[in-house]
Order: sequence, then C-alpha cells, then structure tokens
Amino acid sequence: MHDFGYKKNNLCCEDVPLETIAQKFGTPVYVYSYQTLTGHLLKLQEAFKEIRPLICYSVKANSNLGILRSLVQKGAGLDIVSGGELSRALKAGCPPERIVYASVGKTDVEIEAAIRKGILFFNVESLPELANINRIAGKLRTVTRVAIRINPDVEAKTHKFITTGKLTNKFGIDLKNAYTILSCGGSFKNVRISGLHIHIGSQILESAPFIAAIKKVIDFIERLKKRGIALEYLNIGGGLGIIYRKEKPQTAIIYAKRIVPLLKKTGLKIIMEPGRFIVGNAGVLLTKVLYVKKTPQKTFLIVDGGMNDLIRPALYDAYHQIVPLKRAGAQGHKGARSYVKVDVVGPICESGDFFAKGRRIPFVKEGAYIAVMSAGAYGFSMSSNYNSRCRCAEVLVVKNKMFEIRRREDFRDLIRNEVVPAFLRSTR
Ligand code: LLP
Repeated sequence: MHDFGYKKNNLCCEDVPLETIAQKFGTPVYVYSYQTLTGHLLKLQEAFKEIRPLICYSVKANSNLGILRSLVQKGAGLDIVSGGELSRALKAGCPPERIVYASVGKTDVEIEAAIRKGILFFNVESLPELANINRIAGKLRTVTRVAIRINPDVEAKTHKFITTGKLTNKFGIDLKNAYTILSCGGSFKNVRISGLHIHIGSQILESAPFIAAIKKVIDFIERLKKRGIALEYLNIGGGLGIIYRKEKPQTAIIYAKRIVPLLKKTGLKIIMEPGRFIVGNAGVLLTKVLYVKKTPQKTFLIVDGGMNDLIRPALYDAYHQIVPLKRAGAQGHKGARSYVKVDVVGPICESGDFFAKGRRIPFVKEGAYIAVMSAGAYGFSMSSNYNSRCRCAEVLVVKNKMFEIRRREDFRDLIRNEVVPAFLRSTR
C-alpha cells in the first residue's frame, strides 16, 4: 500500500529514515515516496489496461511540480480547476491534449488561456458557462471541445462536504437539462460537445455509488444515440477512497472488474480523474513535539505543525494515523513503550487546531518527532499562512535519496505582495 515503515525501529520513507529528513529540513515538513506515488498510478493503469483510459491525475490533491512531473512522465494526464493549475500543468510538461478542466466558476481569462493552450476539453457545469465558452471560442475564431458534467443525483456515502453528485450540490447539470442542451448542441457553433463527465464525491469506499452513477450515464448515452447524438469521451471522475484507519476500500483491480464491463459497452474513450488514490498514502507530515502539557482533564501533545499545514482534521474531522518516528528499541530510545491518551494539537489560536483527539499513542517526549500519516492528498495543497506561519518544505524520497521539492517559506515570503501605502510610511 505504501513505502513508509519501520526499519530497525526507525520510521523510514523508502530507504531514508524520516528523522534524517526532519533534522535536515526542519519541521513541520511533508515527505513523499516516489515509489508509492508512481506505484498507485501504475496500479490503475494495470487494472484498467483492457480499456486504456486516460488517467488525469487531479492536481488539486497535491499540485507540487515534482509530484506532477513524476506522474506526467509515467503517462498521466491532469485534471485542473483553475488558471493557476493550468499554468502548473504546463510547467510540469503535461501535453495540453492530456488536460481536462472542471470547475463551476471558470473566468473569461481562464477559459481563454485554456482554449489558447489547446486543452483536451472543458468539463462544463452549467448552461451559462457553456454559452460563455462558446462566446470566447468564437472570439478566438476556433471551435473548442467540451464535456457536459452530469449531476446523476446519487448518494456517494461520504462526508457531506465532499459529496458532489446530488442535485442539492452546485456541481454538474441534471439529466433533463443536459438532454435539452445536447439535443440542441448545434446552437453553439464554437463548441463541440464531445463527452460526458461525472464526479460524485471523494473518499468513496464502495463500488455501488460509482456503478449507480455510471449506469445512469450509460442509459443517458443510449438515449442520445437514439437521437443520433454521438459522443467520443466518458469521464468518470475521481473519488476512490483510501485507507486512513481501518477502512476497506475497493482495490483498483476490484473497481476495474466491476466497471470495465459497463464502460466497454459505451465504446467511448474513458477518462479518470483520481487524486487521493494516487497521492494520499504517498505522503506524511512530520512534526515535532514542543511541549507535553498536562491539564486536570487531558494530556496535550503540542506540536510545531498546525491546522494551517494540514486542515483535514479541523475541517472534516478527518482521521489521520499518528506514529512516532522512533519505536521502542530504536537506538537512542530508552525503555519499553507505554501508551498514553492524548490530544495532538498545534500552536494556532483556535480550538479546531488539532490532528487527533483522545488518541492512544505510544508515549513521546518533548523534542521527539511524530508522523501524521496519509497526508499526501489535500495536505499541502490546502495549507495556508494563517497566524503568519510559513508554509512547510516538501521533500520527495526516491529509494535512498531525498530531494527538496519545495523550500520552506520565510518571513519575506509572508509579506512579499503587501504594499504599505505612502501615507502610512512615515515612522512617526
Ligand atoms: N474530479 C473532480 C471534478 C473533483 O472535484 C475531484 C475532487 C477529483 C476529481 C478528485 O477526487 P479524489 O480522487 O481525490 O477523491 N479536500 C477534500 C477532498 C475534496 C475533493 C474535491 N474534488 C479532502 O481533504 O478530503
């Protein structure tokens, strides 16, 4: 599943002890395993080889150029949602014809840039957006490809903040309206509707919701065919769940076994947009215990990483396993390990600033390092400068080598774009 494990009681990423990284680059720091990252892409490529889908890694999960380049070099395309992600995708060397662009709120500038670069297609989320893309493509005297994002109205059985395929969500177009749009597709002269797109949510553990959504779209495709409307692509989105704790998500092979027969029937080129599945378990956040604070009620491990570095526990009450970098028996570690029940909290001035609550973990002393596991997806990419904290460094490990793929920010970075107006500059 991943390449993090204890060697001689020291937690390692591939062949590098994580403590070496913590000491060399400081904490908090994100560490990624190249082997795990590319291995997960390979697992999907293998499982789906019969239909050879274009696997467009979802950039929002982790948009570091080193991560993108690792995947693009292994044949991945990219799923983007903003002009910033388009610029990263191109910087990472992704051929534009392997880029798909979703988002309910694409601006004119973003649309124009993506058309000029020649991306594969836009995933269109509303009629006004379609009209706007048509207008901009017309202005550029071109015809651009789009896929209509269908909202299939299925329950993804995941956290309500990351459910996207119900009609109460802002995403996609319901089947009835999609049918109307597709059957009068000719009225938009500068767009070619060449596919359909679905994405029903994230961290989905079972196949049933995916199957339900895919079946709905396939029925829809049949209806369109009968009206003489032919498509080229079906984009089935991302959403595959991973193990954070003791979940039993479907494997890539099982997922493929269940849906490939359905997908084959469509005769369309298949696109997938996995994010978490590829990068989630490929990354950890290392942080140092600053203080062990005992109150009448609790023991707090106060660490140097905070909710600005990893917001998932605060935002979704998400569970991330927490483990010490040195296990009992490791060199420099004295005595047998006792377990304690702690809240692992950061330095930020919010009670929501925690990585774990009431968690039993092996006792660690002040100055020791711990790893917050499975933090590769939606970890760094959702981090911020809240409390004027510098964003972390990121390190990519390849076997016994480590590469800093993002420098830690410094105080100058924090104020780089701020301008003090002249009238405030006087020192008096
Ligand atoms: N495609 C579309 C259109 C999406 O909106 C998303 C994720 C993906 C693909 C990739 O989904 P994945 O394979 O990673 O599940 N911040 C949340 C997750 C938000 C997901 C947003 N959309 C979290 O930390 O759990």
